Amino acid sequence: MVKNSTLLILVLFLFFIVNALSVSAEDDKCVQLFNTNCAECHELDRGCELLGQSKQEWEELFEFMEGMGADIDQQPLLIDCLNKPDEGVKASCKK
Ligand code: HEC
Repeated sequence: MVKNSTLLILVLFLFFIVNALSVSAEDDKCVQLFNTNCAECHELDRGCELLGQSKQEWEELFEFMEGMGADIDQQPLLIDCLNKPDEGVKASCKK
């Protein structure tokens, strides 16, 4: 009985690790996109102030920047990252 519950805990533990790893891989994508795309033409700070604003507001801002000659990659994904910023994205703003 003791052995069984130890095994159960081990399995749960492994499950959490695998889960945490796959989440952080996704975080990295947002962090990477944000850091590379948004600091290319101006300070990253500009985007930091607006993290969490609605998707529509982001779309409008992207259109505005494109009107000024910007060419931004992976917009749909970036908009998701900016609309619901994860801890990694927020952390890149605190540097
Ligand atoms: C290819 C260049 C380019 C890239 C890449 C870029 N921007 Fe901009 N951005 C601009 C230009 C041009 C302006 C307008 C001129 C200015 O204010 O410097 C601007 C202005 C802004 C502003 C101020 C808008 C206002 O109302 O004054 C914010 C906020 C902003 N960008 C956020 C971002 C974010 C977030 C990203 C990443 C998704 C990003 N930018 C990527 C070119 C770019």
